[in-house]
Amino acid sequence: MKNVAVIGSQWGDEGKGKIVDWLSSEADVVARFQGGHNAGHTLVIDGVTYKLRLLPSGIVRKNKISIIGNGVVIDPWALLEEIEEVRSKGVEITSKNLIISESANLILPFHKEMDEIREDIAGKAKIGTTRRGIGPAYEDKVGRRSIRVMDLLSQKNLSQRLETVLMHHNAIRKGLGKELYEKNKLITELMNIAPKILIYSQPVWKKINEFTKNKKKILFEGAQGILLDVDHGTYPFVTSSNTVASSAATGVGCGPQNINYVLGITKAYTTRVGEGPFPTELTDKIGEELGIRGKEFGTVTSRKRRCGWFDGVLVRQTIKISGIDGIALTKLDVLDTLEEIKMCVGYEIDGKKIDYLPASLEEQIKVKPIYKVFKGWLQSTKGIKNLEELPQNARNYIKELENFIDAKISSISTSPERNDTILIEDPFKA
Ligand code: GDP
Ligand code: IMO
Ligand code: MG
Repeated sequence: MKNVAVIGSQWGDEGKGKIVDWLSSEADVVARFQGGHNAGHTLVIDGVTYKLRLLPSGIVRKNKISIIGNGVVIDPWALLEEIEEVRSKGVEITSKNLIISESANLILPFHKEMDEIREDIAGKAKIGTTRRGIGPAYEDKVGRRSIRVMDLLSQKNLSQRLETVLMHHNAIRKGLGKELYEKNKLITELMNIAPKILIYSQPVWKKINEFTKNKKKILFEGAQGILLDVDHGTYPFVTSSNTVASSAATGVGCGPQNINYVLGITKAYTTRVGEGPFPTELTDKIGEELGIRGKEFGTVTSRKRRCGWFDGVLVRQTIKISGIDGIALTKLDVLDTLEEIKMCVGYEIDGKKIDYLPASLEEQIKVKPIYKVFKGWLQSTKGIKNLEELPQNARNYIKELENFIDAKISSISTSPERNDTILIEDPFKA
Protein backbone atom coordinates (compact mmCIF):
# COMPACT_ATOMS: atom_id res chain seq x y z
CA MET A 1 0.00 0.00 0.00
CA LYS A 2 1.39 3.38 -1.03
CA ASN A 3 0.42 6.97 -0.43
CA VAL A 4 1.72 9.53 -2.90
CA ALA A 5 2.50 13.22 -2.39
CA VAL A 6 2.35 15.37 -5.51
CA ILE A 7 4.27 18.64 -5.34
CA GLY A 8 5.47 21.31 -7.75
CA SER A 9 9.24 21.29 -8.33
CA GLN A 10 9.48 24.82 -9.80
CA TRP A 11 7.58 28.09 -9.23
CA GLY A 12 4.08 26.57 -9.36
CA ASP A 13 1.71 25.95 -12.29
CA GLU A 14 3.65 22.87 -13.37
CA GLY A 15 0.42 20.97 -14.08
CA LYS A 16 -0.18 19.48 -10.61
CA GLY A 17 -3.98 19.56 -11.09
CA LYS A 18 -3.86 17.54 -14.30
CA ILE A 19 -1.56 14.90 -12.80
CA VAL A 20 -3.45 14.66 -9.49
CA ASP A 21 -6.72 14.21 -11.38
CA TRP A 22 -5.13 11.56 -13.63
CA LEU A 23 -3.61 9.66 -10.68
CA SER A 24 -6.70 9.98 -8.51
CA SER A 25 -8.37 7.15 -10.44
CA GLU A 26 -6.19 4.93 -8.26
CA ALA A 27 -6.60 6.82 -4.97
CA ASP A 28 -9.37 6.67 -2.37
CA VAL A 29 -8.63 10.04 -0.78
CA VAL A 30 -7.17 13.29 -2.16
CA ALA A 31 -5.96 15.82 0.42
CA ARG A 32 -4.80 19.42 0.14
CA PHE A 33 -2.35 20.22 2.95
CA GLN A 34 -1.07 23.80 2.49
CA GLY A 35 -1.70 27.02 0.60
CA GLY A 36 -5.10 28.47 -0.07
CA HIS A 37 -6.96 29.94 -3.02
CA ASN A 38 -3.69 31.37 -4.34
CA ALA A 39 -3.53 27.95 -6.02
CA GLY A 40 -5.16 27.42 -9.39
CA HIS A 41 -5.26 23.83 -10.58
CA THR A 42 -6.69 23.14 -14.03
CA LEU A 43 -8.23 19.85 -15.09
CA VAL A 44 -9.46 19.11 -18.58
CA ILE A 45 -11.75 16.12 -18.82
CA ASP A 46 -13.29 15.29 -22.21
CA GLY A 47 -13.04 18.91 -23.25
CA VAL A 48 -14.60 20.28 -20.04
CA THR A 49 -12.28 22.56 -18.02
CA TYR A 50 -12.39 22.75 -14.21
CA LYS A 51 -10.37 25.42 -12.43
CA LEU A 52 -9.91 24.46 -8.78
CA ARG A 53 -8.49 26.76 -6.13
CA LEU A 54 -9.24 25.21 -2.74
CA LEU A 55 -11.02 21.99 -3.62
CA PRO A 56 -8.73 18.98 -4.08
CA SER A 57 -8.47 17.78 -7.68
CA GLY A 58 -10.06 14.44 -6.76
CA ILE A 59 -13.42 16.16 -6.24
CA VAL A 60 -14.54 15.60 -9.85
CA ARG A 61 -14.33 11.81 -9.55
CA LYS A 62 -17.14 9.79 -8.01
CA ASN A 63 -16.53 7.79 -4.82
CA LYS A 64 -13.42 9.68 -3.74
CA ILE A 65 -13.00 11.55 -0.47
CA SER A 66 -11.62 15.08 -0.73
CA ILE A 67 -9.89 16.62 2.25
CA ILE A 68 -8.89 20.18 3.03
CA GLY A 69 -6.31 19.78 5.80
CA ASN A 70 -5.41 21.94 8.80
CA GLY A 71 -2.41 23.34 6.90
CA VAL A 72 -4.64 25.07 4.36
CA VAL A 73 -5.84 28.65 4.84
CA ILE A 74 -9.50 28.97 3.86
CA ASP A 75 -11.39 32.01 2.67
CA PRO A 76 -14.87 30.72 3.53
CA TRP A 77 -16.64 32.85 0.91
CA ALA A 78 -14.21 31.79 -1.82
CA LEU A 79 -14.72 28.15 -0.82
CA LEU A 80 -18.52 28.35 -0.93
CA GLU A 81 -18.37 30.09 -4.30
CA GLU A 82 -16.06 27.41 -5.66
CA ILE A 83 -18.29 24.61 -4.36
CA GLU A 84 -21.26 26.19 -6.21
CA GLU A 85 -19.23 26.70 -9.38
CA VAL A 86 -18.05 23.08 -9.46
CA ARG A 87 -21.52 21.79 -8.55
CA SER A 88 -22.96 23.72 -11.50
CA LYS A 89 -20.83 21.48 -13.75
CA GLY A 90 -22.64 18.42 -12.40
CA VAL A 91 -20.17 17.41 -9.68
CA GLU A 92 -21.72 16.21 -6.42
CA ILE A 93 -20.24 17.82 -3.30
CA THR A 94 -21.65 16.79 0.08
CA SER A 95 -20.35 16.20 3.59
CA LYS A 96 -19.85 12.58 2.48
CA ASN A 97 -17.14 13.40 -0.06
CA LEU A 98 -15.69 16.66 1.29
CA ILE A 99 -14.05 16.99 4.69
CA ILE A 100 -12.58 20.23 6.02
CA SER A 101 -10.30 20.29 9.03
CA GLU A 102 -11.85 21.93 12.04
CA SER A 103 -8.48 23.47 12.80
CA ALA A 104 -7.82 25.04 9.40
CA ASN A 105 -7.25 28.80 9.69
CA LEU A 106 -9.55 31.28 8.01
CA ILE A 107 -8.67 34.05 5.58
CA LEU A 108 -10.91 36.99 6.45
CA PRO A 109 -11.52 40.25 4.54
CA PHE A 110 -8.97 42.18 6.62
CA HIS A 111 -6.25 39.70 5.52
CA LYS A 112 -6.98 40.41 1.89
CA GLU A 113 -6.98 44.14 2.61
CA MET A 114 -3.63 43.88 4.42
CA ASP A 115 -2.15 41.94 1.48
CA GLU A 116 -3.32 44.69 -0.89
CA ILE A 117 -2.22 47.57 1.35
CA ARG A 118 1.29 46.11 1.64
CA GLU A 119 1.66 45.34 -2.04
CA ASP A 120 0.49 48.83 -2.98
CA ILE A 121 2.82 50.54 -0.52
CA ALA A 122 5.81 48.41 -1.59
CA GLY A 123 5.74 49.83 -5.14
CA LYS A 124 8.66 48.33 -7.09
CA ALA A 125 9.63 46.14 -4.13
CA LYS A 126 6.29 44.32 -4.22
CA ILE A 127 6.23 40.51 -4.16
CA GLY A 128 3.51 40.24 -6.76
CA THR A 129 1.27 38.16 -4.51
CA THR A 130 -2.12 36.89 -5.62
CA ARG A 131 -3.60 39.51 -3.24
CA ARG A 132 -5.80 36.82 -1.68
CA GLY A 133 -4.66 37.47 1.91
CA ILE A 134 -2.53 34.32 2.09
CA GLY A 135 0.54 35.90 3.76
CA PRO A 136 -1.36 37.88 6.43
CA ALA A 137 -3.51 34.81 7.27
CA TYR A 138 -0.46 32.59 7.83
CA GLU A 139 1.16 35.36 9.91
CA ASP A 140 -1.87 35.40 12.20
CA LYS A 141 -1.74 31.60 12.44
CA VAL A 142 1.82 31.54 13.78
CA GLY A 143 1.08 34.69 15.78
CA ARG A 144 -1.54 32.58 17.62
CA ARG A 145 -4.34 35.08 17.03
CA SER A 146 -6.04 33.41 14.06
CA ILE A 147 -9.69 32.43 13.66
CA ARG A 148 -10.12 28.75 12.84
CA VAL A 149 -13.00 26.78 11.33
CA MET A 150 -14.05 25.53 14.79
CA ASP A 151 -14.34 29.13 16.03
CA LEU A 152 -17.47 29.43 13.88
CA LEU A 153 -19.30 27.18 16.36
CA SER A 154 -19.93 29.96 18.89
CA GLN A 155 -20.66 33.64 18.33
CA LYS A 156 -19.30 34.54 21.76
CA ASN A 157 -16.01 32.81 21.10
CA LEU A 158 -15.80 34.26 17.60
CA SER A 159 -16.30 37.76 18.95
CA GLN A 160 -13.51 37.31 21.51
CA ARG A 161 -11.11 35.87 18.95
CA LEU A 162 -11.86 38.70 16.53
CA GLU A 163 -11.15 41.22 19.27
CA THR A 164 -7.64 39.78 19.66
CA VAL A 165 -6.79 39.57 15.96
CA LEU A 166 -8.23 43.01 15.16
CA MET A 167 -6.22 44.65 17.92
CA HIS A 168 -3.15 43.60 15.95
CA HIS A 169 -4.50 44.54 12.50
CA ASN A 170 -5.93 47.85 13.61
CA ALA A 171 -2.62 48.92 15.17
CA ILE A 172 -0.96 48.41 11.79
CA ARG A 173 -3.84 49.97 9.86
CA LYS A 174 -3.72 53.01 12.13
CA GLY A 175 0.03 53.32 11.61
CA LEU A 176 -0.46 53.25 7.87
CA GLY A 177 -3.26 55.82 8.00
CA LYS A 178 -5.95 53.30 6.97
CA GLU A 179 -9.51 53.07 8.28
CA LEU A 180 -9.89 50.81 11.34
CA TYR A 181 -11.66 47.47 10.82
CA GLU A 182 -14.92 47.08 12.69
CA LYS A 183 -15.89 43.58 13.85
CA ASN A 184 -19.68 43.65 14.23
CA LYS A 185 -20.64 43.39 10.56
CA LEU A 186 -18.07 40.62 10.07
CA ILE A 187 -19.48 38.62 13.00
CA THR A 188 -22.97 38.72 11.47
CA GLU A 189 -21.64 37.73 8.04
CA LEU A 190 -19.57 34.88 9.47
CA MET A 191 -22.43 33.54 11.59
CA ASN A 192 -24.61 33.57 8.45
CA ILE A 193 -22.27 31.31 6.52
CA ALA A 194 -21.03 29.27 9.51
CA PRO A 195 -23.50 26.35 9.06
CA LYS A 196 -22.59 26.02 5.38
CA ILE A 197 -18.92 25.52 6.32
CA LEU A 198 -19.38 23.56 9.53
CA ILE A 199 -21.27 20.73 7.81
CA TYR A 200 -17.96 19.64 6.24
CA SER A 201 -15.87 20.15 9.37
CA GLN A 202 -14.24 17.16 11.09
CA PRO A 203 -11.01 16.25 12.88
CA VAL A 204 -9.00 15.44 9.76
CA TRP A 205 -6.12 13.79 11.67
CA LYS A 206 -8.64 11.21 12.96
CA LYS A 207 -10.10 10.52 9.52
CA ILE A 208 -6.61 10.15 7.97
CA ASN A 209 -5.78 7.71 10.75
CA GLU A 210 -8.90 5.67 9.98
CA PHE A 211 -8.19 5.70 6.24
CA THR A 212 -4.66 4.47 6.89
CA LYS A 213 -5.90 1.68 9.14
CA ASN A 214 -8.37 0.62 6.44
CA LYS A 215 -5.57 0.57 3.83
CA LYS A 216 -7.08 3.40 1.78
CA LYS A 217 -4.74 5.05 -0.72
CA ILE A 218 -4.13 8.73 -0.08
CA LEU A 219 -2.94 11.25 -2.64
CA PHE A 220 -1.57 14.43 -1.07
CA GLU A 221 -2.00 17.38 -3.43
CA GLY A 222 0.55 20.17 -3.02
CA ALA A 223 0.00 23.74 -4.11
CA GLN A 224 2.57 26.22 -5.44
CA GLY A 225 6.10 24.84 -5.95
CA ILE A 226 9.32 24.30 -3.99
CA LEU A 227 10.87 27.52 -5.30
CA LEU A 228 7.96 29.33 -3.60
CA ASP A 229 8.51 27.53 -0.27
CA VAL A 230 8.94 30.00 2.58
CA ASP A 231 12.15 28.26 3.74
CA HIS A 232 13.62 26.86 0.53
CA GLY A 233 12.34 29.19 -2.17
CA THR A 234 13.60 32.46 -3.61
CA TYR A 235 12.88 34.36 -0.38
CA PRO A 236 11.31 36.92 0.02
CA PHE A 237 9.64 36.28 -3.36
CA VAL A 238 7.82 33.23 -2.05
CA THR A 239 4.47 32.24 -0.63
CA SER A 240 3.91 31.95 3.13
CA SER A 241 3.75 28.18 3.56
CA ASN A 242 6.06 25.19 3.24
CA THR A 243 5.36 23.65 -0.12
CA VAL A 244 7.76 20.71 0.27
CA ALA A 245 6.46 17.15 0.59
CA SER A 246 7.14 16.84 4.32
CA SER A 247 4.55 19.56 4.82
CA ALA A 248 1.87 17.03 3.78
CA ALA A 249 2.23 15.21 7.11
CA THR A 250 1.84 18.31 9.30
CA GLY A 251 -0.82 19.72 6.99
CA VAL A 252 -3.27 16.87 7.61
CA GLY A 253 -2.02 15.45 10.92
CA CYS A 254 -0.17 12.20 10.26
CA GLY A 255 3.38 10.87 10.44
CA PRO A 256 6.00 11.25 7.70
CA GLN A 257 5.98 7.46 7.20
CA ASN A 258 2.52 7.87 5.64
CA ILE A 259 4.12 9.49 2.60
CA ASN A 260 5.56 6.64 0.59
CA TYR A 261 6.35 8.25 -2.74
CA VAL A 262 7.00 11.88 -3.62
CA LEU A 263 6.12 12.83 -7.18
CA GLY A 264 7.55 16.15 -8.35
CA ILE A 265 5.61 17.81 -11.14
CA THR A 266 8.06 19.44 -13.52
CA LYS A 267 7.37 21.57 -16.58
CA ALA A 268 9.59 20.88 -19.61
CA TYR A 269 10.49 24.60 -19.52
CA THR A 270 10.13 27.18 -16.69
CA THR A 271 7.48 29.73 -15.75
CA ARG A 272 7.03 32.13 -12.88
CA VAL A 273 4.19 34.49 -12.01
CA GLY A 274 4.88 37.47 -9.78
CA GLU A 275 8.19 39.17 -9.03
CA GLY A 276 11.58 37.68 -8.09
CA PRO A 277 14.72 36.19 -9.63
CA PHE A 278 14.42 33.89 -12.64
CA PRO A 279 17.83 32.99 -14.13
CA THR A 280 16.60 31.40 -17.39
CA GLU A 281 13.85 33.93 -18.14
CA LEU A 282 13.36 34.74 -21.82
CA THR A 283 12.10 38.22 -22.61
CA ASP A 284 12.41 37.65 -26.37
CA LYS A 285 10.23 36.07 -29.07
CA ILE A 286 10.91 32.53 -27.82
CA GLY A 287 9.64 33.47 -24.34
CA GLU A 288 6.55 34.90 -25.98
CA GLU A 289 6.06 31.76 -28.08
CA LEU A 290 6.29 29.55 -24.98
CA GLY A 291 3.69 31.77 -23.28
CA ILE A 292 1.29 31.58 -26.20
CA ARG A 293 1.70 27.86 -26.95
CA GLY A 294 1.64 26.98 -23.25
CA LYS A 295 -1.32 29.34 -22.56
CA GLU A 296 0.73 30.76 -19.72
CA PHE A 297 -1.81 33.00 -18.07
CA GLY A 298 -2.47 32.63 -14.35
CA THR A 299 -5.52 30.55 -13.38
CA VAL A 300 -6.12 32.74 -10.33
CA THR A 301 -5.18 36.28 -11.32
CA SER A 302 -5.04 36.01 -15.16
CA ARG A 303 -1.56 37.55 -15.00
CA LYS A 304 0.87 36.71 -17.79
CA ARG A 305 3.38 34.13 -16.58
CA ARG A 306 7.06 34.84 -17.23
CA CYS A 307 8.59 32.06 -19.37
CA GLY A 308 12.10 30.68 -19.83
CA TRP A 309 14.23 27.61 -20.56
CA PHE A 310 14.26 24.54 -18.34
CA ASP A 311 16.57 25.15 -15.40
CA GLY A 312 18.19 21.82 -14.54
CA VAL A 313 20.22 23.34 -11.70
CA LEU A 314 17.11 24.55 -9.91
CA VAL A 315 15.11 21.37 -10.38
CA ARG A 316 18.06 19.21 -9.30
CA GLN A 317 18.19 21.36 -6.15
CA THR A 318 14.45 21.14 -5.39
CA ILE A 319 14.51 17.37 -5.94
CA LYS A 320 17.12 17.05 -3.21
CA ILE A 321 15.35 19.48 -0.85
CA SER A 322 12.04 17.69 -1.04
CA GLY A 323 13.15 14.07 -1.43
CA ILE A 324 11.45 13.62 -4.78
CA ASP A 325 11.34 9.97 -5.90
CA GLY A 326 10.22 10.56 -9.44
CA ILE A 327 8.97 13.34 -11.64
CA ALA A 328 6.03 13.83 -13.97
CA LEU A 329 7.32 15.91 -16.87
CA THR A 330 4.57 18.13 -18.24
CA LYS A 331 3.90 20.35 -21.27
CA LEU A 332 6.47 18.66 -23.50
CA ASP A 333 4.19 19.46 -26.46
CA VAL A 334 4.70 23.20 -25.91
CA LEU A 335 8.29 22.79 -27.19
CA ASP A 336 7.17 21.11 -30.46
CA THR A 337 7.74 24.15 -32.69
CA LEU A 338 11.19 25.19 -31.48
CA GLU A 339 14.21 24.60 -33.75
CA GLU A 340 16.58 24.76 -30.81
CA ILE A 341 15.93 24.04 -27.13
CA LYS A 342 18.21 25.07 -24.28
CA MET A 343 18.65 23.59 -20.82
CA CYS A 344 20.46 25.32 -17.99
CA VAL A 345 23.19 23.02 -16.64
CA GLY A 346 25.20 25.43 -14.48
CA TYR A 347 25.53 29.02 -13.31
CA GLU A 348 28.19 31.65 -13.40
CA ILE A 349 28.53 34.49 -10.89
CA ASP A 350 31.23 37.09 -11.56
CA GLY A 351 33.11 34.63 -13.76
CA LYS A 352 32.95 31.81 -11.16
CA LYS A 353 31.04 28.60 -11.91
CA ILE A 354 28.57 27.25 -9.34
CA ASP A 355 26.24 24.27 -9.37
CA TYR A 356 23.37 25.53 -7.20
CA LEU A 357 21.29 28.66 -6.63
CA PRO A 358 22.66 30.55 -3.62
CA ALA A 359 20.22 31.73 -0.95
CA SER A 360 21.22 35.39 -1.14
CA LEU A 361 18.92 37.49 -3.29
CA GLU A 362 21.82 39.69 -4.40
CA GLU A 363 23.65 36.67 -5.79
CA GLN A 364 20.48 35.15 -7.26
CA ILE A 365 20.01 38.27 -9.36
CA LYS A 366 23.61 38.10 -10.64
CA VAL A 367 23.46 34.45 -11.66
CA LYS A 368 24.05 33.77 -15.38
CA PRO A 369 22.89 30.43 -16.79
CA ILE A 370 25.20 28.10 -18.69
CA TYR A 371 23.22 26.30 -21.39
CA LYS A 372 23.37 23.02 -23.20
CA VAL A 373 21.72 23.25 -26.61
CA PHE A 374 19.46 20.58 -28.07
CA LYS A 375 18.00 20.14 -31.55
CA GLY A 376 14.23 20.57 -31.59
CA TRP A 377 11.99 17.83 -32.97
CA LEU A 378 9.71 20.08 -35.01
CA GLN A 379 6.76 17.70 -35.01
CA SER A 380 3.68 17.33 -32.88
CA THR A 381 3.86 15.32 -29.67
CA LYS A 382 0.39 16.44 -28.60
CA GLY A 383 -1.66 13.60 -27.19
CA ILE A 384 1.06 10.94 -27.49
CA LYS A 385 0.53 8.16 -24.94
CA ASN A 386 3.51 5.85 -25.62
CA LEU A 387 7.16 6.62 -25.07
CA GLU A 388 8.15 4.87 -28.32
CA GLU A 389 6.02 7.28 -30.35
CA LEU A 390 7.98 10.34 -29.23
CA PRO A 391 10.40 11.77 -31.82
CA GLN A 392 14.04 10.81 -31.25
CA ASN A 393 15.09 14.42 -30.51
CA ALA A 394 12.40 14.69 -27.83
CA ARG A 395 13.65 11.46 -26.29
CA ASN A 396 17.21 12.81 -26.33
CA TYR A 397 16.07 15.95 -24.49
CA ILE A 398 14.15 13.93 -21.91
CA LYS A 399 17.01 11.48 -21.34
CA GLU A 400 19.50 14.30 -20.75
CA LEU A 401 17.07 16.10 -18.45
CA GLU A 402 16.56 12.91 -16.45
CA ASN A 403 20.32 12.29 -16.14
CA PHE A 404 21.03 15.86 -15.14
CA ILE A 405 18.39 16.22 -12.44
CA ASP A 406 19.17 12.76 -11.08
CA ALA A 407 15.56 11.61 -10.68
CA LYS A 408 13.47 9.15 -12.58
CA ILE A 409 10.86 10.48 -15.01
CA SER A 410 7.80 8.45 -14.09
CA SER A 411 5.35 10.03 -16.53
CA ILE A 412 5.20 12.53 -19.38
CA SER A 413 2.22 14.74 -20.10
CA THR A 414 1.56 15.71 -23.72
CA SER A 415 -1.63 17.80 -23.53
CA PRO A 416 -3.98 19.32 -20.92
CA GLU A 417 -6.40 16.36 -21.29
CA ARG A 418 -6.54 13.85 -18.44
CA ASN A 419 -5.48 10.79 -20.42
CA ASP A 420 -2.89 12.34 -22.73
CA THR A 421 -0.11 11.06 -20.50
CA ILE A 422 2.70 8.54 -20.96
CA LEU A 423 3.00 6.27 -17.92
CA ILE A 424 6.49 4.97 -17.21
CA GLU A 425 6.28 4.04 -13.52
CA ASP A 426 3.09 4.01 -11.44
CA PRO A 427 3.90 5.96 -8.21
CA PHE A 428 1.29 3.93 -6.30
CA LYS A 429 3.05 0.69 -7.22
CA ALA A 430 6.70 1.80 -7.35
P1 GDP B 1 -1.00 23.68 -11.44
O1 GDP B 1 -1.18 24.94 -10.66
O2 GDP B 1 0.32 23.06 -11.19
O3 GDP B 1 -2.13 22.70 -11.27
O4 GDP B 1 -0.99 24.11 -12.98
P2 GDP B 1 -2.05 25.10 -13.68
O5 GDP B 1 -3.31 24.37 -13.89
O6 GDP B 1 -2.09 26.42 -13.00
O7 GDP B 1 -1.29 25.36 -15.06
C1 GDP B 1 -0.96 24.32 -15.93
C2 GDP B 1 -1.64 24.60 -17.28
O8 GDP B 1 -1.10 23.76 -18.26
C3 GDP B 1 -3.13 24.31 -17.26
O9 GDP B 1 -3.77 25.18 -18.15
C4 GDP B 1 -3.20 22.87 -17.78
O10 GDP B 1 -4.44 22.58 -18.41
C5 GDP B 1 -2.09 22.87 -18.78
N1 GDP B 1 -1.40 21.59 -18.97
C6 GDP B 1 -1.13 20.63 -18.05
N2 GDP B 1 -0.40 19.64 -18.63
C7 GDP B 1 -0.20 20.01 -19.91
C8 GDP B 1 0.50 19.43 -21.01
O11 GDP B 1 1.14 18.38 -20.91
N3 GDP B 1 0.49 20.12 -22.20
C9 GDP B 1 -0.16 21.31 -22.34
N4 GDP B 1 -0.12 21.90 -23.53
N5 GDP B 1 -0.83 21.86 -21.34
C10 GDP B 1 -0.84 21.24 -20.13
P1 IMO C 1 -0.37 26.78 -7.98
O1 IMO C 1 -0.83 25.86 -6.89
C1 IMO C 1 2.20 30.06 -9.22
C2 IMO C 1 3.06 33.14 -6.25
C3 IMO C 1 2.51 34.53 -6.47
C4 IMO C 1 3.60 35.36 -5.82
C5 IMO C 1 4.00 34.51 -4.62
C6 IMO C 1 3.33 34.93 -3.31
O2 IMO C 1 -1.42 27.10 -8.97
O3 IMO C 1 0.89 26.29 -8.59
P2 IMO C 1 0.87 34.63 -2.36
O4 IMO C 1 -0.45 35.12 -2.88
O5 IMO C 1 0.96 33.16 -2.21
O6 IMO C 1 1.32 35.36 -1.12
O7 IMO C 1 1.94 35.06 -3.50
O8 IMO C 1 3.63 33.19 -4.94
N1 IMO C 1 2.06 32.05 -6.25
C7 IMO C 1 1.93 31.17 -7.25
N2 IMO C 1 2.55 31.10 -8.46
N3 IMO C 1 1.31 29.10 -8.88
C8 IMO C 1 0.71 29.16 -7.66
O9 IMO C 1 -0.09 28.17 -7.22
C9 IMO C 1 0.98 30.24 -6.81
N4 IMO C 1 0.54 30.61 -5.59
C10 IMO C 1 1.23 31.71 -5.25
O10 IMO C 1 2.34 34.82 -7.83
O11 IMO C 1 4.72 35.43 -6.69
MG1 MG D 1 -1.71 26.92 -10.98
